Amino acid sequence: MQIKKAIIPAAGLGTRFLPITKAIPKPMLSVVDKPTIQYIAEELSSIGVEEIIVVVSPGSDIIKNHFGPAEDLEKRLLSDGKTALYEIERQTQKFNVKFVVQEEANGLAGAILCAEPLVKDQPFALLLGDELLYANKGETPCIKRLADIFEQTGKSVIATMEVFGDDVSKYGNIGIAEENDGVMQVYDIVEKPSINEALSNNAVIGRYVLSGEVMGMLKTLKPHGNEIYLTDALKVLAERGDLLASCFEGERYDVGDKLGYIKANVALALKSEELGSDVAEYIKNLAETLK
Ligand code: UTP
Repeated sequence: MQIKKAIIPAAGLGTRFLPITKAIPKPMLSVVDKPTIQYIAEELSSIGVEEIIVVVSPGSDIIKNHFGPAEDLEKRLLSDGKTALYEIERQTQKFNVKFVVQEEANGLAGAILCAEPLVKDQPFALLLGDELLYANKGETPCIKRLADIFEQTGKSVIATMEVFGDDVSKYGNIGIAEENDGVMQVYDIVEKPSINEALSNNAVIGRYVLSGEVMGMLKTLKPHGNEIYLTDALKVLAERGDLLASCFEGERYDVGDKLGYIKANVALALKSEELGSDVAEYIKNLAETLK
């Protein structure tokens, strides 16, 4: 079954990144010259979803403005003969983006549920708004790999990568029953475990393709305090053999974390045709001073 809907939650408080996130949502932070959320929309182009649903916080129009029209700017760029910049600006408008508001930042599952009126019981892709997955030339974008596995198996599938030491406790963690060609059968999942509780070194990262029943499951789960956990729904799937995990090609940056954000900017600046050699030169000179 083809994936027609994608959800990008972008309504978190972004407290790890204060003060910039006081007025600007984390997914709008720029990596080189583009906000993370546009990289994510571009990743989604690889599976051709019909609709991208962005979950935003109340009164936050900045993401809507980014993907919306800009007639005056376009006229000015054209009259100044800046056609390359005009094309860059037009690229931001090629996505079919809908917006839903999460009234209170009550967690990831709460954000997903806000998209329920648009997704209903269809399968959907879920891409966390503060993780940038970069596929180099010739590599398969992460969400494309997950969508292919979903289409072949009909089972929900999450992206995973290996983490070590203290990092194990920063992510959801999965137990793997078997692995075939990088596709893993998940038998259990725990939310941010202590090192002793971890099932493996396999962390859950922010890309998912989920079957249509997940939305309904979220509505019936018991909350933990104020929040319901996506992990609780995934656990039900895992225990009955309906959850897969997959490794992915390319690089992952946790842009919601200050160090991850800086790494993303350096790495993507080095890949940039416009800036790459100048940035490399700068880094080499800087490295000399650090010895
Ligand atoms: P995080 O937990 O990483 O983001 O959520 P956060 O809560 O904004 O950040 P910190 O930890 O306080 O710094 C992952 C993604 O889910 C979204 C966030 O915007 C982010 O893109 N999210 C999180 C929501 O949309 N709503 C929420 O209630 C929580």
